[in-house]
Amino acid sequence: MNAADSPPPRVNPAGSVTIRCREDGPLVVEMPSDAKTLGLVLRVTDHLGREFPLPDHKPSVALCRCGHSADKPFCDGTHRDCGFKGA
Ligand code: FES
Repeated sequence: MNAADSPPPRVNPAGSVTIRCREDGPLVVEMPSDAKTLGLVLRVTDHLGREFPLPDHKPSVALCRCGHSADKPFCDGTHRDCGFKGA
């Protein structure tokens, strides 16, 4: 693998919310390092706007995209067992 094939560094730029598609896994929502300074808060809601509780001070959350999690909308790792493929 040469440098051109290397993935970009996994540093979330200040002021940016990144949604990273993990290979064969969940969508990872990553908050910026300066989220607190900027007053940004990550909220995940259902279709009626009711919030799912999130752990305090967690800078990222993994959302299931395989459809097999028992803890939807969050990833519980089941994608590894169900053979989910998603580059
Ligand atoms: S993506 Fe992880 S359980 Fe669905």
